[in-house]
Amino acid sequence: MSTNQSIKPLSTHINSLGHLEIGGCDLVSLAVKYGTPLYVLDEYTIRSICKDYKKSFSAYNNTRLMFASKSLCTVATSKIISDEGFGFDVVSAGEIYTVYKSGTDMSKVIFNGNNKSREELLLAINLGVGRISVDNFYELSLLNQIAEENNVEVDILLRITPGLECHTHEYIQTGHLDSKFGFDLSQIDNAVDIVIRECKNLKLHGLHAHLGSQIFEVSVYGDAIDIIISEMVRIQKKYGIILDEINIGGGLGVRYTETDNPPSTDQIADVIISRLNAAVSEYDINPPVLFIEPGRSIVSTSGVTLYTIGSSKQVPNGTKYVAVDGGMSDNPRPSMYQALYSAVIANKPDVLDALQNVTIAGRFCESGDVLIKNIALPNPSSGDILCVFNTGAYNYSMASNYNRVQKPAMVLVNNSQSDIIVLRETLDDLISHDAVPSRLV
Ligand code: LLP
Repeated sequence: MSTNQSIKPLSTHINSLGHLEIGGCDLVSLAVKYGTPLYVLDEYTIRSICKDYKKSFSAYNNTRLMFASKSLCTVATSKIISDEGFGFDVVSAGEIYTVYKSGTDMSKVIFNGNNKSREELLLAINLGVGRISVDNFYELSLLNQIAEENNVEVDILLRITPGLECHTHEYIQTGHLDSKFGFDLSQIDNAVDIVIRECKNLKLHGLHAHLGSQIFEVSVYGDAIDIIISEMVRIQKKYGIILDEINIGGGLGVRYTETDNPPSTDQIADVIISRLNAAVSEYDINPPVLFIEPGRSIVSTSGVTLYTIGSSKQVPNGTKYVAVDGGMSDNPRPSMYQALYSAVIANKPDVLDALQNVTIAGRFCESGDVLIKNIALPNPSSGDILCVFNTGAYNYSMASNYNRVQKPAMVLVNNSQSDIIVLRETLDDLISHDAVPSRLV
């Protein structure tokens, strides 16, 4: 089993008090010490999945593992993932800056995105970001212009849409034809032509595609490799340039509920490596450098969110709602994508009697702010600590201040030690960016 196939962080167990424990830390004590809602991240689990990826891809020497920081971007987590030897996929000045501040070697960073600004491209160049994946014609000329003005050569890939549909939520599919990302296959030649003729300050190294997220079918990666390599070979022949880098994006799924069966890192590596090796011998080319950019599968399993249960409401002959002190602002995924989660009560995780079917409601002013529909929990009562699993990815990174609620703190646990890695926002933080025009004073 690889780490992404576990619902819970690998160090999860029930301690002698009958409480849930992660990284040797009692979750009830963490809730008391740091307050709730609280993001808890297990360092051991993050390092384990990094090691899984390294082992699974070790059969292909030219692999560059990059972490998609859009799934979770903090200085501390970037340090851990960098320490495990990963580079980073970044998509904004904020992510570039965070990764830079973590001390990462910026040559191991790739800048993605469909509408990068001049300022962001300049920051990437100035901080020595290793690759820029150019998404569209506008960006080609903008980037070349910036590179020319600064008298530098910029190393690029071209982001393409391989035209593959994968079965995931419509909003998180990206490799299909009618996508806002990347060059359509029919536009690649035009783009390469422009790079060669007009972009003297850009050096093209290869092609990049991202197929979607929370992917369970490994075969789609094989199909993408076939398409991308055949395009690379065709372009090399037609234009007489060498393309020796392929970026296959991220997307490996995780296990939010018992019915999810994501592939292991070995399974996805086997498909990618075998199809790559087959293409290398079929076209008689040198093995290209392979970039892979997993996000969710690196951090999701390591994270849980702790909430305190407050009010509840039994609708006569209907649903029993149990409300927690967080919801759609710390985890927008259920309301955005109908995402499913698993949870237990951290102060009685192994109690199996008095089970009630309840719906976990958030505290925000929207009927759609429901975290989990229909979950069986043992007599959930006010003051209980709810632990929702698999919240390490796309929770904190998508958090908002809706209803002017402060974002939670994040704590890193390992070997019975807990450390704050993101401070809880204060009320003063919330108003710190407000300004009042003098005529109103
Ligand atoms: N590379 C590129 C170019 C991407 O656009 C993404 C994710 C990744 C890598 C990482 O994919 P992952 O391994 O995390 O699946 N907010 C959504 C997910 C959006 C993913 C966007 N792109 C969610 O919460 O499900």
